[in-house]
Amino acid sequence: MCYAIPGQVVALDGRVATVEYFGERKRAYNEIPSLKIGDFVYAQGGFVIKILPPQEAQDILATWKETFFELQEVDLRLSRLAVRKGGVAKAILRILDKALEERPLTREELLELLCLETPQEREYLYKVANFLRWKNLGNGACVHGILEISSFCRRNCAYCGLSSHNRGLSRYRMTEEEILAAVHEAVEIYGFQSLVLQGGEDPDQSIDDLVHIVRTVQKHHAILIFVSFGEIGLEALEKLYEAGARGLLLRFETSNASLYAKLHPGYTLKTRLAHLEKAQELGYLVATGGLIGLPGQTREDILNDVLLARSLSAEMYSFGPFIPHPATPLSSCSPPSSSLVLNTLAVARLVDPKNAKILVTTAFETLDPQAARLGLLAGANSLMLNVTPLSFRSKYTLYPKRAHEGETIEEQIAATLSLLRSLGRAPTDLGASIPRG
Ligand code: 5AD
Repeated sequence: MCYAIPGQVVALDGRVATVEYFGERKRAYNEIPSLKIGDFVYAQGGFVIKILPPQEAQDILATWKETFFELQEVDLRLSRLAVRKGGVAKAILRILDKALEERPLTREELLELLCLETPQEREYLYKVANFLRWKNLGNGACVHGILEISSFCRRNCAYCGLSSHNRGLSRYRMTEEEILAAVHEAVEIYGFQSLVLQGGEDPDQSIDDLVHIVRTVQKHHAILIFVSFGEIGLEALEKLYEAGARGLLLRFETSNASLYAKLHPGYTLKTRLAHLEKAQELGYLVATGGLIGLPGQTREDILNDVLLARSLSAEMYSFGPFIPHPATPLSSCSPPSSSLVLNTLAVARLVDPKNAKILVTTAFETLDPQAARLGLLAGANSLMLNVTPLSFRSKYTLYPKRAHEGETIEEQIAATLSLLRSLGRAPTDLGASIPRG
């Protein structure tokens, strides 16, 4: 998906192309040597990924034109700030007014917002977050696909159903043919422009195997590839970049080093962060974040997590609730409230109002059936659909009863498009706007 709208290149400055869509201009990195001014292109996550024949581009633009402006109107209506301020404490109103003026909030102010509990105060926080999303990023919603290629994992993460704690799980590793067939279906049949290839830290899958998979996928399809294979080593990150990967999805899980060490015995937050920093340095788009509601985690920790994602210049914030899995040491713990997850997404928007893609995660949809709608109205603007073949999907048990586990790609797309349409969002990833003036 990411039914991308083709844009036209209006300027080229070294590696940076300026691409215009219905009067809006965005910047995208270009790695296609033959690109020239006037070409129609698809861009994803700020990268030019494909040149389109002009006729094809104009046909697609013609079908989009009317819908695009209609959607913008719906979004505009839903993003108005009109809200009952009764029931909202003066101090909170003051903080949110400051957020609306896009003045940076202090830690204490952000923490107050993260901890809001009354429905009126939370509603106003979400409205402000949604308004800032609308104002800075417009109605584009980024919808990536995720393909889970292996459920083998050497790690012992205390919360995860794929960890070595879960001895009873029947595991799978997709063959190259199966991976290519699944990518082909997602890209050529369903139009995904960007895919995350994810797997556990599979001891029987070498870096060369992963490099080969990425290279082969890239050879067959002009898409933006995110890799998500855990801590593969800094050199491996370099090799995967050379093979064509341009995004890394790797959560730091928690920014609290001692909590990290407790939940991942034998591993350190430092190594995790070294991967994220290296990825940034290599030019990867970084998608990262943490788990909300881990046992022993405080509200301050969650705020630190959001601030850490920002300081890592995350292009995508991936924050989702911890959901206990029965075959792990944390089986008897409770998940967080849906309100805390929404508060986190909204605070993330306030922390990074202009750039962040903020994901509504499948874990959040598992916790709350209304999550996608509520999250998108509280500052979020991204979704990830599962394109793993159904025969494997139920075996990728990060946590129980995952939302959409039994849904075909077609069903997920239909539901997503209908939700996005009702909210006035266009399922496109146009990247960040070029500031006016
Ligand atoms: N609940 C929610 N998310 C989980 N993950 C792993 N286990 C759980 C769980 N029990 C998330 C981790 C990991 C991602 C692939 O899945 O944050 O980074």
